[in-house]
Amino acid sequence: MLRRALRQSGEELPRPHPDEHDERRHTAPDNEASERRHLRAAYQHGEEQVPRTKFQLAIEARAERRLIGNCGVRLAAPGSRVADVGYELAPDEWGHGYATEAARAIVAFGFDTLGLHRVAATCVADNAAAAHILEELGLRRVGHLREVAHYKGRWWDELVYGILEDEWRTRR
Ligand SMILES: CC(C)(COP(=O)(O)OP(=O)(O)OC[C@H]1O[C@@H](n2cnc3c(N)ncnc32)[C@H](O)[C@@H]1OP(=O)(O)O)[C@@H](O)C(=O)NCCC(=O)NCCS
Repeated sequence: MLRRALRQSGEELPRPHPDEHDERRHTAPDNEASERRHLRAAYQHGEEQVPRTKFQLAIEARAERRLIGNCGVRLAAPGSRVADVGYELAPDEWGHGYATEAARAIVAFGFDTLGLHRVAATCVADNAAAAHILEELGLRRVGHLREVAHYKGRWWDELVYGILEDEWRTRR
């Protein structure tokens, strides 16, 4: 289930990133506390924007009412109908299909609620699970950016995906 992230001010946010040795992440977080501060600031920034361009939502395991990750849709500019999406789960929660469910919900939110025309997503080429999820949802691979980012001592390729509103509706 997706919901507003900052519903309860004292609520513990899930640790969204794998440990710092996981090379699929762009940045190695300094520590858990600063990571949570960053995430909370990102949530707050989105919620306070007028007009709003960033919709960063929490992913909650419905049965236990437990926060397990976050996902978001970001408009290219205020009022734009073009946006990109992203999602991440706490590592303990991987492999149960939650990310697929959340990604589907955030794309649907973009088309159904925000009235988007196009949704895009980018993932590190080595991140096979993230790419698999995007393809499962019907996003088409529209680009392979070779060695576009440098971090953790090496260059990384990224994959670019996109889907148009009519393609999304046809798949449903
Ligand atoms: C990417 C991420 C969200 C995936 O979470 P997850 O819980 O494993 O995702 P799900 O269980 O919903 O689905 C993963 C899918 O990828 C598949 N998969 C996993 N590893 C794979 C691999 N090496 N090759 C191909 N497919 C793979 C799984 O089989 C599953 O597909 P299926 O449901 O058809 O069997 C999680 O690893 C994460 O949070 N990573 C850090 C943040 C990140 O990279 N976000 C993506 C940026 S867009």
